[in-house]
Amino acid sequence: MHLLNLPPLLSLLALTSALPRPTPAPTPLPLIIWHGLGDRYDADGLHSTGDLAKKVHPGTYVYYIRTDDDGNTDRSNTFFGNLTTQLDDVCEALKLDAKLLDPSDPDGGIRVDALGFSQGGQFLRGLLERCDGLSMRSLVTFGSQHNGIAEFQTCGRFDFVCKGATALVKGNAWTEYVQNKVVPAQYYRPLNATTGMPKEEYLEGSNFLADVNNERVNKSEGYKRKIASLERFVMAVFEEDVTVVPRESGWFAEVNATSGEVTPLRERQMYKEDWLGLRELDEKGGLFFETAPGKHMELSDEVLRSAFKTYFGAEGEASSGGLLDGTIAGGRLNNDQQMLMQDDHVFGCGADEAQAWWDSLTWLERRQFEWEAVWKPWLRGELAPLRVYDKDHKKVDLL
Ligand SMILES: *[C@@H]1O[C@H](CO)[C@@H](O)[C@H](O)[C@H]1NC(C)=O
Ligand SMILES: *[C@@H]1O[C@H](CO)[C@@H](O)[C@H](O)[C@H]1NC(C)=O
Ligand SMILES: *[C@@H]1O[C@H](CO)[C@@H](O)[C@H](O)[C@H]1NC(C)=O
Ligand SMILES: *[C@@H]1O[C@H](CO)[C@@H](O)[C@H](O)[C@H]1NC(C)=O
Repeated sequence: MHLLNLPPLLSLLALTSALPRPTPAPTPLPLIIWHGLGDRYDADGLHSTGDLAKKVHPGTYVYYIRTDDDGNTDRSNTFFGNLTTQLDDVCEALKLDAKLLDPSDPDGGIRVDALGFSQGGQFLRGLLERCDGLSMRSLVTFGSQHNGIAEFQTCGRFDFVCKGATALVKGNAWTEYVQNKVVPAQYYRPLNATTGMPKEEYLEGSNFLADVNNERVNKSEGYKRKIASLERFVMAVFEEDVTVVPRESGWFAEVNATSGEVTPLRERQMYKEDWLGLRELDEKGGLFFETAPGKHMELSDEVLRSAFKTYFGAEGEASSGGLLDGTIAGGRLNNDQQMLMQDDHVFGCGADEAQAWWDSLTWLERRQFEWEAVWKPWLRGELAPLRVYDKDHKKVDLL
């Protein structure tokens, strides 16, 4: 990775030494970064992304959002937990970091730029809506699920906890048990095939998305004001994303699951009636629909650098326009990013952390999990025979 970065860095140094000394640049806004599913805040790959942001705008303070100071717990919290609690905790933690405070705000508010990868993108948006005293200039999300997911991804071959969790969600997505415990279930958003509207169970039972998207009858004026207060909301979708179903969720579009027909955000009721302040933001030129080349989270330094340059930096300094023809220029992954991204797909939890999570449960919790994940849906006829794998990766027919 360092070898790969060396040539551009050297040419940059050569260039800057030939230029007249610039006046000291104004301080860039702090940057908060929220990682994706299966990732952890202290991962090397994530930090190399933060380092790149510092290279593009020297002096940037980078805060890596975590739900726990222990990296392993932070990672397992990307699969399991209640997002209401997680967002509240993150909000409180941000307020304890003096480096995030806006020096010009007598009320001690926080003012930042924000970068979200995959599910971290919609969590940052929810955080902005819910966290009093937090304000954002640019919110940039890559491959996020702003309009939810219509399907859960298949699990890795050895992930029997992952398979259990998926089965659990399929049979019982709207129970309090699942909504309180399984993170992706809280942004699961299936449509009624006849009406094309979200299912009633979603509107009633969703612990996260139906609320932060202001889809319920009673809408939060506060959420709307927060979104409209952004200067820029940048939604980047990966051209060849097959992990997020549908990938246009990253642009807040609605997709007919049968025909694949996409209704862009600007044609949706939520935009026309401006439930969430997105139209107001768009009308002042602050909404950007971007495309990044490659599959889910196949990010290159070039793409990131281009986004950082355009949307981050000191207040009033970053360019106000979008990127040329809506496309962030492509490039190749560096090794660190490959390491970072390989686990980041919906429910494709690696065998090790799945096993570690299972090992951390008490006997009673395991039995409860089996009951909820396997036996209950099976009794209701909702579950096809489930193949699972034991600790030694030997296949076991459970049912
Ligand atoms: C999630 O946590 C919040 C806050 O503690 C709680 O009010 C809510 O009922 C929980 N959600 C579920 C589905 O249990
Ligand atoms: C879809 O909506 C129609 C019309 O409201 C309703 O009759 C039907 O039961 C719904 N289907 C599902 C699967 O919820
Ligand atoms: C979705 O597409 C199918 C197939 O073209 C069509 O029959 C159905 O009416 C569409 N649903 C909605 C809500 O538009
Ligand atoms: C909406 O809010 C009003 C006033 O707070 C309340 O009376 C009403 O029951 C709410 N409606 C729903 C569907 O939650």
